[in-house]
Amino acid sequence: MSLLDAAREVRENAYAPYSRFKVGAAVRGASGRVYRGVNVENVAYPEGTCAEAGAIAAMVAAGETELVEVAVIADSPEPVPCCGGCRQKLAEFGKPGTPVTLATVSGKVLATTIGELLPARFDPSHMDKC
Ligand code: THU
Repeated sequence: MSLLDAAREVRENAYAPYSRFKVGAAVRGASGRVYRGVNVENVAYPEGTCAEAGAIAAMVAAGETELVEVAVIADSPEPVPCCGGCRQKLAEFGKPGTPVTLATVSGKVLATTIGELLPARFDPSHMDKC
C-alpha cells in the first residue's frame, strides 16, 4: 500500500465533529514502517490536534525519530496544505528534501518537500549562544 493510500484509509477514523474536515496523515520512518494519524478535535477547540501531529506521535512512540516520507489527504478543493505548526513538527523529524505528498480525496496531488513547506525553519543552530 502506498503512503498516500495509508493516509486515505486512516482518514476515515478522523474525529472532526466540529469542523467536519477530516484529515488523514501517514509518515514513513527511516525503518520503512508506516505510522498513521488523524485530526482529533475537542469541544474546547484549541485542544484539537492535527493529523500530522498524530502520525508523528505514533512514530515517536514506536521508537523512531526520523521520517523519510509524508502524505496528507483531506476532502478539500486543492491539496490540503499542512498548517504552520505541523510544518515545524515535520521539520523536527525530517530533512529539507524529505518528500511530502499533499492530496485531495477527489484525486488532486501536489508533490512537495518539507523544505519547500518551511523554508526558514527554526532549528537548533539558532540557540547556539545559549
Ligand atoms: N487539520 C489537520 O489535521 N492538518 C492540517 O494540516 C490542516 C488542518 C485539521 C485541524 C482541524 O481539526 C481541521 O483540520 C480544521 O482545521
